[in-house]
Amino acid sequence: MDPRDRVVIITGASSGIGAATARCFAAAGARLVLAARSADTLAQIAAELPQALSVPTDVSDPVACAQLVERAGATYGRVDILINNAGIGLTGPVSTLARHDLERVLAVDLLGPIWLMQAVVPVMRAVGRGQIINVSSVLAVQPLPYLGGYAAAKAALEQISNALRIELHGSGIAVTVVRPGTTRTDFNQRRLGRGRERRRIAPPGVAPEVVARAILRAARTEPRLAYVSWMDRLALMASRLAPGVVEAVLARAFRWEE
Ligand SMILES: NC(=O)c1ccc[n+]([C@@H]2O[C@H](COP(=O)([O-])OP(=O)(O)OC[C@H]3O[C@@H](n4cnc5c(N)ncnc54)[C@H](OP(=O)(O)O)[C@@H]3O)[C@@H](O)[C@H]2O)c1
Repeated sequence: MDPRDRVVIITGASSGIGAATARCFAAAGARLVLAARSADTLAQIAAELPQALSVPTDVSDPVACAQLVERAGATYGRVDILINNAGIGLTGPVSTLARHDLERVLAVDLLGPIWLMQAVVPVMRAVGRGQIINVSSVLAVQPLPYLGGYAAAKAALEQISNALRIELHGSGIAVTVVRPGTTRTDFNQRRLGRGRERRRIAPPGVAPEVVARAILRAARTEPRLAYVSWMDRLALMASRLAPGVVEAVLARAFRWEE
């Protein structure tokens, strides 16, 4: 749908892709409800934009997610688009991932979007229209060593998005998965897990504004799945055509350092 005058909730709007998406949707005329935990940064971003409300929220808390949707409804009267973008990374060998890190990643990257989808679907059903955009990652389908915990959360997010789309068939509510590749944000500095993977090849990544524009396009065209760059598609195609070869290359290209 055209985002002009639409009410759009964006989680993880205090930084990176979420902040860029907030600016992009503001320029397209949307009315924004911005969520993240960093209240001051969020308020600053909202203050720069013409129609934006900041609602400090930890998406791992189901009550806070319900309150975020209520606040959006109380302020603007409806919610047209939910963009589940908040996320944290996790690195480490699967065999030694710490329980609290894994639980945290699942709570933020998977359960948070689920709580918000559950809160927003009845509101959208009541008006017979809406869109849910879930920000996934190419890692949901492209296996990489030492990123399995994070990839598992994103893969599960994609599957639950696909199931919800079918359940909502004919309701007027679209469900879109956006699958970015490497993006130049602070994401890697903030990720959980001890140690670090060393890569022989590291893609330079795109600017968060490029991902924001892909999310805006996805809002306008409502596809099931949207990529950000053709390079991401190409890498996934290679993996699908010759998985054994790609896995052998990746095993040599990555090394783990405690
Ligand atoms: N960067 C990449 O290479 C890349 C690639 C593919 C997909 N992605 C996905 O893109 C999304 C955005 O990532 P980014 O690169 O923009 O990273 P980022 O700059 O670290 O931004 C992450 C955002 O999520 C918020 N957040 C984290 N935990 C939260 C929680 N419990 N409740 C509410 N908000 C929370 C952070 O705000 P607070 O700390 O203020 O809460 C921040 O605004 C994530 O879902 C990520 O998985 C990133």
